Amino acid sequence: MLKNVMKVLIVLVVFLLLFYAVEIITGLDAHEIKVLSEPREAGHVGGGGRYKAGDEVELKASPRDGYEFSGWLKGDRLVGEEKMYTFKVEKSKTLRADFQPRRYSVDYRGGGGGEVESRGEPRHGETMSLIAVPADGYVFMGWVENGEEISSEVEYEFTVQGDRSLEATFRPVDDFVGENIKTVVAPAHAGEIKGEAHDISGRKLVLTAHPEFGYRFDHWEAEGEEVSRNRSYTVGTGEEKEVVARFEEGFEKVDGDDLLAPVNKETYLGRYAPPDLKELPEEINARDYTMHLREEALEHLMNMYEEAKEDGVTLQVASAYRCYDTQKTIFNRNAEEHGEEEANRFSARPGQSEHQLGTTVDFGGTEYDFSDEFAKTSQGEWLKENAYRFGFVKSYPEDSEDITGYIYEPWHYRYIGKDRAVELQETEKVLTEFLEAKRR
Ligand code: DAL
Ligand code: ZN
Repeated sequence: MLKNVMKVLIVLVVFLLLFYAVEIITGLDAHEIKVLSEPREAGHVGGGGRYKAGDEVELKASPRDGYEFSGWLKGDRLVGEEKMYTFKVEKSKTLRADFQPRRYSVDYRGGGGGEVESRGEPRHGETMSLIAVPADGYVFMGWVENGEEISSEVEYEFTVQGDRSLEATFRPVDDFVGENIKTVVAPAHAGEIKGEAHDISGRKLVLTAHPEFGYRFDHWEAEGEEVSRNRSYTVGTGEEKEVVARFEEGFEKVDGDDLLAPVNKETYLGRYAPPDLKELPEEINARDYTMHLREEALEHLMNMYEEAKEDGVTLQVASAYRCYDTQKTIFNRNAEEHGEEEANRFSARPGQSEHQLGTTVDFGGTEYDFSDEFAKTSQGEWLKENAYRFGFVKSYPEDSEDITGYIYEPWHYRYIGKDRAVELQETEKVLTEFLEAKRR
């Protein structure tokens, strides 16, 4: 009897040992497939878990209301564009389903006599504003949607909740009988006012203030009172008889530590130096001296370097961080050779260069360095398509000298963080406008 009990026990123990052995052996090649959704509340993801090598995994992303699916990401890298993503397991990994607030179609036109500028994204819940910009000799009349006038504000702001289709209507100034409003620049010669103001009973006109070098715009005054600190001023109800654009001497000091600091011809970094400069690895340095960038910018630059390499493109940096004194030497040399004004079209004055931020690079190491042709090199083309995914954006695009004050520089990229870069990519704005708008 006892013998039989012993036998049963032995059989049981052997069975259990075998069971655990099988578990351990099969567990050795089990891999964890982790799935997350980003932002967390934007959707549901399924299919994650433990798998064996060679297993087929099927992941599924389902957006919640107001969101849409934008892709499967592994690290910074887009690996799938469909909601269903299948692959064979090789090793453990984490995949993120990226969701974006739903995008609507918001179309707008200037119906002859002017144009429309837009701010904001046509995404669910975002605030958008449309700004009517009349051409010379025209007056803005109102916003029309489905045949009805919905606003007479030059800047029309709304929360995106669905598709929209708007038209800005304009009429020639000559259609109105009115007296001109006087515009004054103070102090005289400190700047210029663009746009024409007419007293046209109730209709508004936009004036913009443009400072001369060494001045910055401060505020608008009407009838002796401060009325706005925005660069553009929409003339009110026709009561103003005199509008003053007030400028101040000197530049606006900006904080270089801010990734989104507006660095342009009206702002000034002083002798700012970044706190966390790191040396560029040799493989990306096109020069025989060391170069530096801020830690975060460098990390993303190197991620970009690796991915470009997988695409057969070797990114090379020809210039990175430049301190105040280096920029001064460069600018003075250029000014001697070309004259100050001409030099300032392609070379920033000390304290005004994005290179002083430690987040900006000039790519190069080609025979087309610092020329328009750089855009057509493998680096130029790859960067144009991909840099924004790593947070790098072009500061001085083609045909933007009017806005940036600098000629086209297809080699000059500034790091502003991935989310901001994606946001900028989806607008028609030039970086400097985008950064100014962010501050308002
Ligand atoms: N070339 C750009 C404008 C700089 O000097 O920063
Ligand atoms: Zn540059």
